Amino acid sequence: MIVLGIETSCDETAAAILQDGAVLSSIVSTHWLHSKYGGVVPELASRAHLNLLPMIITQALDESEIDFDKIDAVAVTKGPGLIGALLVGISIAKAIAYAKNIPLIGVNHLEGHLWSAALEGNPPRPPFLALLVSGGHTLLVGVQAFGQYELIGQTRDDAAGEAFDKVAVLCGLGYPGGAEVEKLAAFGNMKYHQFPVSMRGQAGFDFSFSGLKTAVSNFIRRTPDALDNHRNDLLVCFQHAAIESLVHPTCRAFDEGDYNGLVLSGGVAANNQLRQRLSGEIEKRDGTFHSPEPNMCTDNATMIAWVGWQRLLNGERDDLSLCGRPDLPLTEILEKGRR
Ligand code: KG4
Ligand code: ZN
Repeated sequence: MIVLGIETSCDETAAAILQDGAVLSSIVSTHWLHSKYGGVVPELASRAHLNLLPMIITQALDESEIDFDKIDAVAVTKGPGLIGALLVGISIAKAIAYAKNIPLIGVNHLEGHLWSAALEGNPPRPPFLALLVSGGHTLLVGVQAFGQYELIGQTRDDAAGEAFDKVAVLCGLGYPGGAEVEKLAAFGNMKYHQFPVSMRGQAGFDFSFSGLKTAVSNFIRRTPDALDNHRNDLLVCFQHAAIESLVHPTCRAFDEGDYNGLVLSGGVAANNQLRQRLSGEIEKRDGTFHSPEPNMCTDNATMIAWVGWQRLLNGERDDLSLCGRPDLPLTEILEKGRR
C-alpha cells in the first residue's frame, strides 16, 4: 500500500510517501520566518502552509518516483496543533482523497511522534515507555500495543521544548532555539551555576519547567555580565537542569512499570546530551533505548504516513467530515480503543 502523509500542525510543512511502511521520500520545509517574532505566528504559519504544501507534495512524489495515480491512501495530521495550520493540510488531503476516490485517514500528531522510532532498523517492542518531548508537549506514555496508550505523566506547566525556546530568546538566539542552545552549550562550563532540577527526589511522574525558566530569567537580570561573558556557561547549566528534570520522573516511571524499553521522541529528543543520559540510565536497567535519527525527531510527515498506514490496515477510515482538533489528546485514542 502506498500512503501519502501530510503534516501541517505547526511550523513545518511536510509530505512523505511510504510503501508498505518503507520510506520512499520525506520532505520537510521549516518556516524560519517566525524566528524574528520569538515564537510561531499562527496566521503566518497558515499562509506559509498554503503556499508551500502543493510544492512539497509534488517534491515528495518526484523524489519517490511514484506517479500521483499510484497513491492508495492519504494520511493527514488532524491535531493537536494550530487550527488554521491543521486545516490547510486537512483540506488538501480531503481534496486528493475525493478527487482520486481513495481512503482518507486523520492521524494524531502525538501518536506519530510515539511511533517515529518504529521506522528504524530496531523497532521498539511493546510494552514500552515513551517520553514525548516537543515544543508543545511533554508526556510520558505507557504503550501496551499499537493504539493502546496510558498517560503516565505530563508537564504541569511549560513543555520541555518551550523552556529551551524561551531560554534561547532570553539569550538573544533565534526561534526555535533548542538546537542552537545545544550547540553553544558544548562550549560552556557546567560549574558556572546550579539551576533547580524539578521533581527530583519526589514521587509521581509529572514534569515542570516554568520554575527553571524563571530561575534563568532572574539570574540573567541579577548578573550583569551573564550574557556578554558567560552565555555558553549559562546555557550548559540550563541544559543540564532541563535534562535532569526529564530524566528523574522518566526513570521512576520505568522502574515502577514493566517495560521492555524506552522510546524518546519529539523535537527535544534530537538533543544528544538527553539521548546519552537516558540511554545510559535505561541500559543500566537492562532496557532497550530507541530514538529516531535527530532529523526524524522534529515534525515530519513520515511518522504521520506510518501511523495512517497502520490504522488503514486495521480497517479505519475517515470521511470528508474530518475536522482539525487543536486540543486533540492522545488519550482519546485509548478511549476509542476501548469502545
Ligand atoms: O516536535 P517538534 O518539531 O514540534 C512540536 O511538535 O512542538 O519540536 C520542536 C521543539 C522546539 O521547541 C525545538 O527548540 C526543540 O524541539 N529542539 C531541541 C533540539 N532540537 C529541536 N531542543 C533541545 N535540543 C535540541 N537539539
Ligand atoms: Zn511535533
